[in-house]
Amino acid sequence: MKDLTGTRGVNPLRQLSLEQLRQRTSMKWTTYQDDVLPLWVAEMDVPVAEPVARAIHSAVERGDTGYPAGTAYGEAFADFAARRWDWDDLAVERTAIVPDVMLGIVEMLKLVSGHGDPVVVNCPVYPPFYQFIRNDGRPVVEAPLTEEGRIDLTTLEVAFQKATGRGGRPVYLLCSPHNPTGTVHTATELTDVAELARRYAVRVVADEIHAPIVAAGTSFVPYLSVPGAENSLSVMSASKAWNLAGLKAALAIAGPEAADDLARLPEEVSHGPSHLGVIAHTAALREGGAWLDSLLAGLDENRHLLGDLLSTHLPAVRCRPGQATYLAWLDCRKLALGDDPAAVFLERGRIALNSGMAFGPGGAGFVRMNLATSPEILAEGVRRMASVL
Ligand SMILES: Cc1ncc(COP(=O)(O)O)c(C=O)c1O
Repeated sequence: MKDLTGTRGVNPLRQLSLEQLRQRTSMKWTTYQDDVLPLWVAEMDVPVAEPVARAIHSAVERGDTGYPAGTAYGEAFADFAARRWDWDDLAVERTAIVPDVMLGIVEMLKLVSGHGDPVVVNCPVYPPFYQFIRNDGRPVVEAPLTEEGRIDLTTLEVAFQKATGRGGRPVYLLCSPHNPTGTVHTATELTDVAELARRYAVRVVADEIHAPIVAAGTSFVPYLSVPGAENSLSVMSASKAWNLAGLKAALAIAGPEAADDLARLPEEVSHGPSHLGVIAHTAALREGGAWLDSLLAGLDENRHLLGDLLSTHLPAVRCRPGQATYLAWLDCRKLALGDDPAAVFLERGRIALNSGMAFGPGGAGFVRMNLATSPEILAEGVRRMASVL
């Protein structure tokens, strides 16, 4: 169902110049020297959506800068999920606000497994999955995606066997949609995953942060909506789709059979999100539908543009157009730049991309590129990559 909270307007990816972006003090714009074009970390080169800016300004005017409280974020997400994904079962009483997605995931792992229990992931995957799981004292068990970036059920079963063989209560941390490949898992795939997880008594925690960012013609399927997933947990957030990582907040959601688990979440965890973050995310979900539609149209254009630019300037680079996220996973193995082409692109081309190596097995020879920028900057990025050859 289409979200009709407004009509599509100007493409937010075309609103800021490189000079304006270089004024920013966030990670994307300050990690590298000024002659480096940053197309790496998942921040978008967009202004704050108007309804979000209004909500933050009005909170500041009220002096409403205390601690977060209430269920406004959960209610806004439930309405958004019903409008965007036809999912009517996001029950507000089975939600909790958490500081951000990664800290929320760590809390979910603690709820359904013991300290030191293994966590299964589909590599190549968002590098903090490794960092946060290991920092929490847990081993990672890898179930590599197929060459096409899809979950392979046999590989996943082998990983479940390995994880359960270690004893304890293993968890499967599903990334849906998948970062970095942009894969959108289908209802059938997710149902098969849920059936397998039940069979091995593996609990599933889904990271669904990229859910609102899907390409035209693609439908996101919430994991908790598939049969068999009733005992699972999901963590969602408005932070990626509206570029609100600096306004910390996220939402943990339990399926009906996981309600008791979520009820054990220590109360102090819900003190962690920023109250301004909750206000901003809630406004985005309630009033930011038109802005999101404009963004999605801009990202569709950029995905096509990237395909054209690569075939013209870097035909040896393989890129399967992502169905979701604003990240492109580029196979640079034919360029003969070694396992870490991002290092060569940075040194010789003065462009910052994410090194595929950090994403685990399957990442060597790949780079991840951030497409959430203007077409001009994207074209300049590909030009810089091509210049190293
Ligand atoms: C899959 C995935 N999970 C989590 C995060 C980080 O979310 P947060 O900043 O809310 O922890 C990102 C950021 O890009 C991501 O891609």
